[in-house]
Amino acid sequence: MKSLVLLVVVLTVLAGNGVQSQVIPPILTVTGTVKCTQNYTDATAPAFAHAEVQLISGGTIIATATTDINGLFNINLVVGVSLNGILVNVEILETCILKVTTPLVQCNASLTTNGVLVSSITRLNTGVFAPVCFIFVTL
Ligand SMILES: *[C@@H]1O[C@H](CO)[C@@H](O)[C@H](O)[C@H]1NC(C)=O
Ligand SMILES: *[C@@H]1O[C@H](CO)[C@@H](O)[C@H](O)[C@H]1NC(C)=O
Repeated sequence: MKSLVLLVVVLTVLAGNGVQSQVIPPILTVTGTVKCTQNYTDATAPAFAHAEVQLISGGTIIATATTDINGLFNINLVVGVSLNGILVNVEILETCILKVTTPLVQCNASLTTNGVLVSSITRLNTGVFAPVCFIFVTL
């Protein structure tokens, strides 16, 4: 019983150290790919090139980026800097959303102007965040 208690204490200390040793880098990156589709399950959809992507925290746009020819976007943010009054840090980024403001009709004439792609973001590793899934939301 005593050794079990000791084991729990040791594991707790180890877990604590693990968290503390995760040094947050000075630059956080939000990166991902936007596809030209309203259907997020369609893995074969082509890339959405030249699309504007907004990074939004509680309704405030804190950064924007444009996708490249492969639909890839990249936003680098300096930790501790205030963007439109929002202080950049890991906790804030985890609550941000991404919104693609360029209408889908720009990449495929059969698609609609009547909505946007939106995704929450998730932390992939210490300093890199990515969209969870771009869902089409009707305006
Ligand atoms: C979305 O894509 C999946 C995979 O290609 C397909 O099975 C499904 O029918 C599509 N849904 C719509 C609403 O188009
Ligand atoms: C454009 O969108 C239509 C309607 O969803 C789809 O059937 C077609 O495959 C798309 N074209 C391309 C090039 O992705």
